[in-house]
Amino acid sequence: MKAILSCTLLFLALAANISGQTAPITADEAHHRAEALLKQMTIEEKVGQMNQSSGIVMPLLASEKPDNLIVQGKVGSILWLIDVKEINRLQHLAVDKSRLHIPILFAFDVIHGYRTVFPIPLAMAASWDPGVEEAAQHLAGEDARAAGIRWTFTPMVDIARDSRWGRIVEGAGEDPYLGAAMARAQVRGFQGESLGPDSVVACVKHFAGYGAAEGGRDYDSSYVPEELMQNVYLVPFHAAEQAGAGSFMSAYMDLNDVPATGNHWLLTDVLRKQWGFKGFVVSDAWAVGALQTHGYAKDPEDAAFKAVTAGLDMDMASLTYPKYLAGLVHSGKVKEAQLDAAVLPILEVKYELGLFDHPYVDESKVDSTLSRPEGRELERKVAARSMVLLKNDKHTLPLAKSIKKIAVIGALADSVRDIEGGWTVEGLFGGGSKSNPVTILAGLKNKLGPGTEINYVAGPSPVRLFPSLFDAISGTKPPPPPTDAEIAESIAKAKAAAAGADVVIAVVGETAVMSSESASRASMELPGIQQQMLEAAASTGKPLVLVLENGRPVDVQWASKHIPAILEAWYPGTEGGNAVADVLFGDVNPGGKLPISWAHSAGEEPLYYNHNLTHEPEDRPNFTSRYWDVSSKPLYPFGYGLSYTSFKFDHLRLSKTTMTTGDATEVQVDVTNTGKLAGDAVAQIYIHQRWGSASRPVRQLKGFKRIALQPGETQTLKFTLGKDELEFWSPQTKAWAVEPSTFDVWAGEDSTASLHAELSVTE
Ligand code: BGC
Repeated sequence: MKAILSCTLLFLALAANISGQTAPITADEAHHRAEALLKQMTIEEKVGQMNQSSGIVMPLLASEKPDNLIVQGKVGSILWLIDVKEINRLQHLAVDKSRLHIPILFAFDVIHGYRTVFPIPLAMAASWDPGVEEAAQHLAGEDARAAGIRWTFTPMVDIARDSRWGRIVEGAGEDPYLGAAMARAQVRGFQGESLGPDSVVACVKHFAGYGAAEGGRDYDSSYVPEELMQNVYLVPFHAAEQAGAGSFMSAYMDLNDVPATGNHWLLTDVLRKQWGFKGFVVSDAWAVGALQTHGYAKDPEDAAFKAVTAGLDMDMASLTYPKYLAGLVHSGKVKEAQLDAAVLPILEVKYELGLFDHPYVDESKVDSTLSRPEGRELERKVAARSMVLLKNDKHTLPLAKSIKKIAVIGALADSVRDIEGGWTVEGLFGGGSKSNPVTILAGLKNKLGPGTEINYVAGPSPVRLFPSLFDAISGTKPPPPPTDAEIAESIAKAKAAAAGADVVIAVVGETAVMSSESASRASMELPGIQQQMLEAAASTGKPLVLVLENGRPVDVQWASKHIPAILEAWYPGTEGGNAVADVLFGDVNPGGKLPISWAHSAGEEPLYYNHNLTHEPEDRPNFTSRYWDVSSKPLYPFGYGLSYTSFKFDHLRLSKTTMTTGDATEVQVDVTNTGKLAGDAVAQIYIHQRWGSASRPVRQLKGFKRIALQPGETQTLKFTLGKDELEFWSPQTKAWAVEPSTFDVWAGEDSTASLHAELSVTE
């Protein structure tokens, strides 16, 4: 009987092991189990958990085979490995052969989708719909989990106020309030309400101040005073932490001369002590070793010392911890308690994920999960929801499906490689995208069928000077610059195609690698000969629609004057071409809004709406803060975006116009669809504190809501202005507080909204 029972139990355990179904364990239980396990571990095994090794540069230590290291318990996590067979093989070594059977946590950058690729994160922020980003990241998480990845280096929540910085593409743009909403949504999408067997652990990055890189040059130093860290740069990080994010990633750069990866103030004082973070912190790739390159650590051993004592729990790929940490503990320089504090949350997360019970991937289900049609359906919806209509003179858009002849111009219009953006898991590490993405040209063909003739002129691919990081990984090369003859021919063809068409759709922007990591630009101009081809097509006088495919604002000053309709499509993802066609032909009414201020040209950067007032504000005639040669206002403001219908904002009212600092007021505003089509409005609430212990930004977003309205329909929206919205961190008091003052309150469609009310806050 006992034998039968134990056979049954073994069978149930094995079945559960493969199916991945397990009852979640509580955080307390995970904590107790982790503590018990920690007591059995040697110093070397503890250091092993703090080592994340690189799947592409195994073996880890020159003298040892990776398999041996896993068996010896010296590998806690592996990144950059997506071959599920190899994942299972290595996991078996850890679980079956290592002394304590601790499973490996496999990690990867599932930034905006696994096989089905969602729009770039900047685009998803442009939806101003945290719910839709949560749904996208939830699906991406399910895909990742099915493929054995239980930890993603997402969300990237760096505030980006400078469009020259290529990584602006990965975040939610320039605003801390919108950024915080998108950060929370992504954590919930990947992890759910709390960590459990269905979760993928989120990793909030890059902690912190990375987006403030000098000159917009990626990796360059950031100098950010504490008031700006507290009020702007740290806000989305704190929101993600409060949403329960299991891990954080330290940034690469120097923050105020102390590299983030060895920065005790960031990793311990703010993250652990002020916020009470209970998860673990991993470095960015090779960043522990790079503490020496920065000129902060004397040698690699000192780098390990400085990182671990600053509060950095896991070393990503630099091998500095596995080489030096045990020695530092044995010599008494680092206390074993410091290792325990680092290892405990790593083990807790592994327990909470159910990894000890279900460490393996079901290889038979990977492909069917990754190719689910519901993923593509959601992608198409998210992509269309993220698009921003920048200009639409004389109702140029939507186009009629009865059009007979269309000219499509631009190499990006049919570029499979670019439509999904830069971070594609299988595109980078799986030998090429397996999603069969729909380009814009293909999407137009799908929408219109054989009755419409489409004449396509690609022209040369946009040029860049150097190979990118991703070229190095995926073995590609930058396209060669076109010859003079090719340039002349492309321009002539663009003009001829436009002349023979009823409507021209020009697709211009940047190739995906141009806005990504290590991909800054000193100019926002359209790369290559795109501008010339555009002007040639426009010179025919034919109706022209410009579709932008890009990961950061580009210089569209000319187009904003001469082209009647401009649609920002971003890198819209796997179904991107179909989604662009949905919007161009009116099956979807665009409702996205800019999550960034769109500059005229790069000389205006950094540019952001929530700046302080100068002593001579810009609307005064003389001695204002300005350039001689270009406006210092954006071409398109933060929060801006048009619709095929129109909206009216009215009756802004506050439940209390006077209140004390501890109180809250309710803001109400009526929004009416005044046009003839159903459409989405995004109501935005901005405030300004007129005086106080510090100068406050001219405007700050403090509430938003995307709503769908039928023609003629009115909705009354409610927002709260209380402690969370009104407080700020004052450089004089070094504390958060709501101060007595007068506050301006605006409601409307973008950051220039004029509908105004006043709130008086007293002691
Ligand atoms: C990037 C991180 C990324 C890591 C792992 C680094 O180069 O800065 O954002 O998560 O690589 O791929």
